[in-house]
Amino acid sequence: MRTFAITGGTDGMGRALALALLERGHHVAVLGRSPAKGAELLDAAAQLGAGNRARFIPADLSLISGNRAAIAAIRDEFSELDGLVLAARYYRSDRVVTAEGFESTFALSYLSRFVLSYELSDLLDTATAPVILNICGPGSGSEIHWDDLGLAANYHGQTALSQSGPLNDLLGVGYAESSRRTRYVLFGPGLVNTAFAGQYDAATAAQIEAMRARATPVAEAIAPMLAILDNPPAAPLSAYSLGRPLSLDGPSFDPDAAQRLHRTTQALLADLTTHEQERTA
Ligand SMILES: NC(=O)c1ccc[n+]([C@@H]2O[C@H](COP(=O)([O-])OP(=O)(O)OC[C@H]3O[C@@H](n4cnc5c(N)ncnc54)[C@H](OP(=O)(O)O)[C@@H]3O)[C@@H](O)[C@H]2O)c1
Repeated sequence: MRTFAITGGTDGMGRALALALLERGHHVAVLGRSPAKGAELLDAAAQLGAGNRARFIPADLSLISGNRAAIAAIRDEFSELDGLVLAARYYRSDRVVTAEGFESTFALSYLSRFVLSYELSDLLDTATAPVILNICGPGSGSEIHWDDLGLAANYHGQTALSQSGPLNDLLGVGYAESSRRTRYVLFGPGLVNTAFAGQYDAATAAQIEAMRARATPVAEAIAPMLAILDNPPAAPLSAYSLGRPLSLDGPSFDPDAAQRLHRTTQALLADLTTHEQERTA
């Protein structure tokens, strides 16, 4: 019996993975924003006879404070963690800045994953074969707007979404280089027919609906991810796109860029801490 925490576990691929892991007899903590969806997930778990092994942790992961509260709740639940699945997403046609001052797609799609990956690493490193499965878009080669990560100057929802691909690639590279025992897996599922959670302008909403017809069903899309969670790869870092392994030699996985991003992220998080301390002084 193993233990898993799953962000975005109330819908789409995260939910399907949560229920499949519960069916396999594991303990699963699901993180999501919607209490109604959380309650529905717990009902579905109870119907599988797994109600006592499922937990819902309500969390707004676009806030660093929300991530840290969720980490504290996971620590209350588990003394070790076999798997962390990162699957929360929310598309925004309009640019929104969180109460902590970060553009919200950058905060949810990247900063949250950075904080959860590193700040749960001690629990993960305690497990026998720990793995982080980061469901994203590896190897896309999309641009990182280094001087304006929050896209203040030229925001587009698609640009923000595209940028989260290379940011997570570099997160994986940096994490694997930090020589922890935990395996890091970047997994691009291709187009999958999920909730596509988000706030869409009319044109983008129409594009999403049109794409649904050719999208992979969720049950099919999660099969290779379950295989990874069942049997994590031996390599510190792996990347897959549409089920096929990607070479880690390309520019998407540049160690120097990973170090640069790591330093930049640490500075952003340190600035936030300083602002919070000044605010509460
Ligand atoms: N679907 C695709 O075609 C596709 C393609 C490539 C990559 N991916 C990646 O695959 C992963 C799963 O995507 P999906 O399409 O399965 O997701 P989805 O069905 O759209 O569900 C999104 C999940 O994210 C949660 N979420 C949204 N905002 C949140 C917030 N602020 N705090 C906490 N949780 C929040 C939602 O929870 P609540 O509803 O409870 O708020 C929901 O559980 C994502 O990382 C996505 O980027 C998806």
